[in-house]
Amino acid sequence: MTTDRPTFYVTTPIYYVNDAPHIGHCYTTLLADAMARFYALSGRDSFFLTGTDEHAEKVVTSAAERGITTIEWADRNAAAFRGAFDEMNLGYDDFIRTTEERHTSKVREYIQRLMDKGDIALGDYEGWWDPSQEEYVTETVAREHEFKSPVTGRELVKRVEQNYFFDLAKYEGRLLEHIEANPGFIKPEARRNEVLGRIKQGLQRVPVSRGIDESDAATAWGIRMPGDEGHRVYVWIDALFNYLSVVDSDEREMYWPADVHFIAKDILWFHAVIWPCLLMALGKDLPGCVYAHSYWIREGRKMSKSLGNFLDLPTLRGYCESFSTDAVRWYLLTQGPLGATDADFAHGKFVEVYNADLANGIGNAASRVSNMIGKYFDGACPAAQSDSYSEHDWPAICSELVGSAVEGMDGCDLGKALESAMAITRRVDGYVNATKPFTLAKDESRMEEVGTILYHCAEALRIAATLLLPAMPEKMADMLQRFGQDPDDSRSLAERCAWGGLAVGASIEKGDALFPRADVDAAEPEAVGA
Ligand code: MSP
Repeated sequence: MTTDRPTFYVTTPIYYVNDAPHIGHCYTTLLADAMARFYALSGRDSFFLTGTDEHAEKVVTSAAERGITTIEWADRNAAAFRGAFDEMNLGYDDFIRTTEERHTSKVREYIQRLMDKGDIALGDYEGWWDPSQEEYVTETVAREHEFKSPVTGRELVKRVEQNYFFDLAKYEGRLLEHIEANPGFIKPEARRNEVLGRIKQGLQRVPVSRGIDESDAATAWGIRMPGDEGHRVYVWIDALFNYLSVVDSDEREMYWPADVHFIAKDILWFHAVIWPCLLMALGKDLPGCVYAHSYWIREGRKMSKSLGNFLDLPTLRGYCESFSTDAVRWYLLTQGPLGATDADFAHGKFVEVYNADLANGIGNAASRVSNMIGKYFDGACPAAQSDSYSEHDWPAICSELVGSAVEGMDGCDLGKALESAMAITRRVDGYVNATKPFTLAKDESRMEEVGTILYHCAEALRIAATLLLPAMPEKMADMLQRFGQDPDDSRSLAERCAWGGLAVGASIEKGDALFPRADVDAAEPEAVGA
């Protein structure tokens, strides 16, 4: 199928179905959501994919511990991820579960193709096996522990096993060339340099299967290797193929290659090295960008199972109920670990950002301007006598900031994109303070000037709210409605953000505060539904 609009395809990692959704999963999915919304608004045919990775062995063991079937356990947790994403208003276009037939059949097809080509073949794997832990340890770890189990101290044994391997080394040269020729392929820069450094040390073949031990149900959970019932596809290889399997059909093929794969730095090697080489082997185009962000930490401490301090869904829900879902989205999007450093979710900082950007920022600007239009012009948008006033050239100001928002998004710099939009509201505030329409309005002969100023303010705020729709879809739709606009206007972003879109006479309503001010001393909201 073809589309007359340019496409935009963005993905998130598919999450292990064994864990409960937390801030980290919601964050990566939110980045993809905001970007997908932005490009949909820009007139592109956008496709946003997320989902769950279900073939890990621990899914089998956890289900058994609960006395339910593996698939029941997977169903339950996949539903929890969907539920979490729905609560955060994350509008994915498809949710893939790796246990679905539409995925498993494609994986077998891809593997078969690579076997036919000779890129995947059976080989011997020799390594140090820890019988007490049922896992291999690396040569270095084995040496460090004098060939004893690092966990139990039991003797390690040298074990040889047959596995299928993918010939990664064959694609090393082409991959290096691609990364070097495309500086935006791996982002941010620090991550790209790490990957380049590691590739230059040489690539080794990678196992793509695991042996099945019929007496151990956990080893049988997964996709069988084509033509060999004794092996299953290694869960990581199975998982990576999701990005392709979902769009590998006549109706969706126009989305490939993906524009952006959002992930965190923990899984960069798989995405920036193994995945592109698999794609080259399949003769597919490579994705535009693999963006590996850093981690959320909480109140200055790393989140971990042992500390039990994950910022989980009930906690996030507490924040959404107290401050609005859009306020939480705003905090995550603007203060998150998009670059190469980790970011802290601290309650004090949340309230500070909420008040500065939302309550005292856009919320206050909207209420100030709508209030004056209500008071001086009966709530009907006044006319501007000219586009600039008192050395403020509004079409130029807005077009520069809109341009910078688009540039930010195009470079996956969501911080810059959103900051540019928010800067418009700050300019409006500064303009009102400088021109004082509330003082001019005391003089009947200056009402035309007051009208001019307020038109500029309302029009700039309309543009800012439009640009902020992808980050705060509900609040900004509400704000646009108050400014007499149709939030679902089907025109493109460029048309909607062109200066002069606000009609003279449009009804401007004040309404309740969009973001009521938050008490800086109030305690952290209680978790909801824990
Ligand atoms: N199933 C694999 C991914 C396969 S993709 C083909 C996996 N799953 S995961 O459930 O562990 O999710 C890891 C991802 O969750 C990270 O890459 C990141 O997107 C997100 N996060 C998990 N913890 C995080 C933080 N503390 N901070 C930010 N994001 C993090 O790996």
